[in-house]
Amino acid sequence: MPGPISDGDARARTLFDAAFDAIVTMDSEGRITEVNAVAERIFGRRAQDMIGQDLAELIIPEDLREPHRHGLAKYLSTGEAKVVDHPLEMPALRADGTEFPVELAIRRLPVPAPPAPPLFIGFVRDITERLRTEQDMRELAAEQAALHRVAALVARGVPLREVVDAVTEEIGRLLGAQTSNCIRYEGPGSAGVLGGWNAPGVNSVPVGSSVRLDDADTTAARIYRTRQPARLDSYEGQEGELAALLRDMGFHASVGAPIFLEGELWGALLVSSVNAEPFPPGVEHRIAAFAELTAQALANAEAREELRASRASIVESANAARRRIERDLHDGAQQRLVALALTLRRASALLDKDPAAAHDALAEASDGLDQALAELRELARGIHPAILSEYGLPAALAALADRVPIIVDCDVRLTERPREPIEAAAYYVVAEALTNVVRYAGAEEARVTAERTDGYLRVEVADTGSGGADPSSGSGLRGLADRVEALGGRLEVRSPAGKGTLVRAELPWA
Ligand SMILES: Nc1ncnc2c1ncn2[C@@H]1O[C@H](COP(=O)(O)OP(=O)(O)OP(=O)(O)O)[C@@H](O)[C@H]1O
Ligand SMILES: [Mg+2]
Repeated sequence: MPGPISDGDARARTLFDAAFDAIVTMDSEGRITEVNAVAERIFGRRAQDMIGQDLAELIIPEDLREPHRHGLAKYLSTGEAKVVDHPLEMPALRADGTEFPVELAIRRLPVPAPPAPPLFIGFVRDITERLRTEQDMRELAAEQAALHRVAALVARGVPLREVVDAVTEEIGRLLGAQTSNCIRYEGPGSAGVLGGWNAPGVNSVPVGSSVRLDDADTTAARIYRTRQPARLDSYEGQEGELAALLRDMGFHASVGAPIFLEGELWGALLVSSVNAEPFPPGVEHRIAAFAELTAQALANAEAREELRASRASIVESANAARRRIERDLHDGAQQRLVALALTLRRASALLDKDPAAAHDALAEASDGLDQALAELRELARGIHPAILSEYGLPAALAALADRVPIIVDCDVRLTERPREPIEAAAYYVVAEALTNVVRYAGAEEARVTAERTDGYLRVEVADTGSGGADPSSGSGLRGLADRVEALGGRLEVRSPAGKGTLVRAELPWA
């Protein structure tokens, strides 16, 4: 096909054909004189259908055509060397009428023999991919920023409700939805709406309400059944109460991801849109990242609740201990002292008329006094061992070791005394663990160690007995864990069957 390039030398022809971009040449009227293969491909037209056409007609959508034609005409008449110096972005047209974005630059070609008419060459680059990548990058950055904001809230330990509000708003906006919700499954038949966000002026299922899952195929029901992210591209024709409700509110498409707590399905994050187009593919997995943060916030809230419950249980066990002491005092020592007072009064009455009987009564009172003293001493030991407060852990643990009917190797390496509550907790750990060894382990020996390590007091009781200790089956080990955790420490019980038991407490020294 004749033209300025193909009429030129072979080098020009090679450059024209090898270029990655579309190249067209135009005469001074802006009519196309030649196109390369890339131009045929991106416009979806054959060369012969483009040649002779106005470039503006081919490339530029109708509403932009006139200004462009003017611009080009101005450049053509001024004879400037550079026509469109830097590339312009504009939409272009394919043969089938679809638009695609291009970058266009136009240069004036030197002609071999002026005053031959000027020639122009246009470079057209299809930038669909580039714009898509840029858009993807922007979306990714927005998503990362949103995840970061939510993660910061979770890290600050704000109340769950605030995290749910933030998460639903972030995903709603990010995905261009009109409503988003966090629901909690309440069983196979229903779910409660825990929190949500709506675009202004859009209705939504109210927070606090319950929705039925059993009679319809909704996104929430699909997630419940499959435990996987799910979507529904249209509520049109869907049966059931919830589907009808959402349809009536004007929602079309919905997509969501499950929230797991300790491996169990707990709830879901859902977004819905009033637009007819479904959500783009892969949106489920973007929601899943937010669902994970929500799960983290949930786990934190649970941990706080556990801590609160454990503190409450310490207070409760302290109250129970006080009630027991009251009862013991009332039933024991107090009764004996009352009896003692009566006996002494009797002795005093008998003193003159029956000295022998008075003597017996005094002997009885003296016995009663011994018993009352023994009982008080016993009681005091239960409250707090005197040896611990007076001589500290090495002596108190050695006394515990002596009291049990097995051989205990006691290795206590402490040069200073820890704080009083830490010392008491360590004492009770060893006392309970040694009692357990005697009762259950079937071992003949045990080892007790206590030492200071990295700001902690570590005490351990190890036996080589039957193993299988299970804190959930009694109250002893659980009580120890509560006591230790309330002080900011940690209790560990390792007890594989047949391999002995190790009870280790780490208590903060400071
Ligand atoms: N050293 C051990 N060796 C083998 N089994 C143990 C050992 N310590 C505890 N166990 C087992 O673990 C269970 C729980 O112990 P835990 O001290 O919590 O409760 P308990 O001793 O049964 O009751 P409580 O301490 O309230 O009197 C015990 O019932 C026992 O079966
Ligand atoms: Mg026990």
